[in-house]
Amino acid sequence: MEPAVSLKKDGYLNLPVNPALNLEEEILRLKKEKNAIILGHYYITSDLQDISDYIGDSLGLSQKVEKTDADIIAFLGVHFMAETAKILNPDKKVLIPDLKAGCSLAESAPADKFADFKAAHPDHKVISYINCTADIKALSDVICTSSNAESIVKSFDKDEKLIFAPDKNLGNYINSITGRNMVLWDGACMVHEKYSLEKILDLKAAHADAEFIAHPECEKPVLMIADYIGSTTGLLKYSGESRSQKFIVATESGILHQMRKDCPDKVFIPAPSVDSTCGCNDCSFMKLNTLEKLYLCLEHEQPEVLLSPEQIDKAKQPILKMLEISKKLKL
Ligand code: 13P
Ligand code: SF4
Repeated sequence: MEPAVSLKKDGYLNLPVNPALNLEEEILRLKKEKNAIILGHYYITSDLQDISDYIGDSLGLSQKVEKTDADIIAFLGVHFMAETAKILNPDKKVLIPDLKAGCSLAESAPADKFADFKAAHPDHKVISYINCTADIKALSDVICTSSNAESIVKSFDKDEKLIFAPDKNLGNYINSITGRNMVLWDGACMVHEKYSLEKILDLKAAHADAEFIAHPECEKPVLMIADYIGSTTGLLKYSGESRSQKFIVATESGILHQMRKDCPDKVFIPAPSVDSTCGCNDCSFMKLNTLEKLYLCLEHEQPEVLLSPEQIDKAKQPILKMLEISKKLKL
């Protein structure tokens, strides 16, 4: 018989929570008692963003994780991010409120298939976007994020043969701005590839005073009409610094919370997806994180992200290389 609480089946601690509890207060209490830090990505819901000790993009989160002296890291994001935190902090307990918070991009690159792909390009170095599993990281020479992808690619000699995985859209974009010809793995993010060019053009026409800003995980035709392309932190920074008062934003809707917090007088419009009734620009994986699950996970210190020492050992070097290059370039 299945146990009443099965992390394997549910992915989280499916336990009753007393509705009289003030969850924010309880989370703060547990955090203090256990010397825990809560790290969150911009795509989580606004209540979780507001309770996080640090909120950032993938590069900022890995830099923060490298420096923390907390005993427990509660990661509000998706599995590959929590895995990266574990790789950088093997002696700390890394918790994730829901083990099923995956990523379509990471899933698009199974390690065995990628190993075959790599073997078919024997004289190539491998640059992998951080949105991949620990096993793909272990097969890579260096990791990058959307914040530093251009610099990481440029750190290689111009005629070095390169594979870029797993996001073909980001890879394509970096090829176009660096003049490189990296071989691309055929993966994509299910949120960023759903934007509708037609609907965005209509929206731009209806808001001629708006700037259109987009994440490089979007498809080429969408990026071609963007006024600015950048990582989530890049988009946030750009919208804060630009003199424009209105922005159409092509990335996951969670980022709008920080944009509106930083610039309450500016207008931020989510870019429309092919099917605007389905909430396509919400990442269903990121949205698996909830206050209740965070409370339960801090209380019971489960689910925990666990990796073998071999996995950690192999995946660590390419991440450290990325952090070192970023430090040198002050990114
Ligand atoms: P960044 O926040 O690093 O730009 O990454 C976007 C993303 O899709 C994370 O899953
Ligand atoms: Fe993965 Fe896309 Fe969700 Fe980011 S937004 S976690 S890339 S599925």
